[in-house]
Amino acid sequence: MVFSEVREQVLLVDDNPQNLKILYDTLDDQHYRLLLANSGDKALSIAEKSKPDLILLDIMMPGMDGYEVCETLKSNPSLKDIPVVFLSALDDVESKVKGFEKGGVDYIAKPFQPREVISRVATQIRLRRLEQALKEKNRELSADNVEMKKKLEAQREQLAHFSRLSTMGEMAAGFAHEVNQPLTAITNYSRVAHRLLGDNPEDNQVTNKAMLATTLNKLEAQSHRASEVIQRIRGFVKKPKSGKQELNVTSLLTDVVQFAEVDVRNNQGRVTLELPDALPNVEADEIQVQQVTLNLIRNALEASFIWQQANNAFDEPAVVEVSAYADTRNVWVEVKDHGCGLADDAEQKLFHPFYTTKGEGMGIGLSLCQSLIQAQGGKIGFRRNPDRGTTFYFSLPIVH
Ligand SMILES: Nc1ncnc2c1ncn2[C@@H]1O[C@H](COP(=O)(O)OP(=O)(O)OP(=O)(O)O)[C@@H](O)[C@H]1O
Ligand SMILES: [Mg+2]
Repeated sequence: MVFSEVREQVLLVDDNPQNLKILYDTLDDQHYRLLLANSGDKALSIAEKSKPDLILLDIMMPGMDGYEVCETLKSNPSLKDIPVVFLSALDDVESKVKGFEKGGVDYIAKPFQPREVISRVATQIRLRRLEQALKEKNRELSADNVEMKKKLEAQREQLAHFSRLSTMGEMAAGFAHEVNQPLTAITNYSRVAHRLLGDNPEDNQVTNKAMLATTLNKLEAQSHRASEVIQRIRGFVKKPKSGKQELNVTSLLTDVVQFAEVDVRNNQGRVTLELPDALPNVEADEIQVQQVTLNLIRNALEASFIWQQANNAFDEPAVVEVSAYADTRNVWVEVKDHGCGLADDAEQKLFHPFYTTKGEGMGIGLSLCQSLIQAQGGKIGFRRNPDRGTTFYFSLPIVH
């Protein structure tokens, strides 16, 4: 037994020296460290200093009585867990009940039987050990939990990042096209500028200068446009310092829709955005919410193209409608398509990792969306549209 190594401390409190001696002798060879106090005040200061494992406390004492001592102990967060056993000649029910009400765990009537004291003390000490072992275990468990949660978050973070990179890969053609347009324009404006600088003396120098200024402005605007596209890509693929922050949903959705449109223009599609005048801010991780929205829009577009293909209906562009509204707690974002719709058994599989009906799909999109939205404290779901296609939606908690 580890008994001899950790000697529990028992504080004995009695104003009568005779009683104190008897108690001391009774418990002396029980392997406890015994502390003695002959008044309530002293008992409290020793308790404060030594944090004993058990207190045997006489009730009737001049000055501060045992009840008061016990109350003071129980009101002190660092002492309140020390078990108190009352000792008293008052052997009536009232005073026992009062002792328990003040927070005592046991009651020994005087004059006591030494063997009774020994076994009651031993019981309390054993309980105390168990309780502390349990506390320690709980502490370890919650530490493990925190550790586990961190690991899971890191994994989700990695998967999300990986998936963003792969989305960017798929969108690369669209981006190339998007950046190429302003670059072509820049080349053209530069040529014009050169011509305007030209040394034809017949040219009207004043007009030329004005036109040159206009051309340079246009050139600058186009280079901004190209650099914005690049910035957006960089923002999306970077490994973000993850973390929730206060977000403006309107500007977030505006960004994402612009982002998605890059894809769409190549594919004869359109993404519309319909928002109320004002939306409350939400608390969420910006890049992750962008990622979820982009995934849903891309799924919606893909479903639309599948429908067009199956029905040979290419005369009208595929339209995906993004909208948002708020209730008292959440902002809800909806992505609605008029595409091929879901299989009948989609409910069971849709959010499972690797479920895909697409030849080149990975089936990662929706399962990732679900875990990202849940990490923000939101919900994600879908419904079948009455006419055609599907509406996916998710919520984000409003900042209060
Ligand atoms: N808007 C939608 N309309 C119809 N079916 C959809 C829609 N969104 C998702 N699905 C179905 O759910 C499946 C899983 O979607 P998910 O986004 O998880 O994977 P994926 O799009 O197949 O591949 P990826 O990992 O590249 O996103 C899709 O293959 C498709 O069958
Ligand atoms: Mg997808």
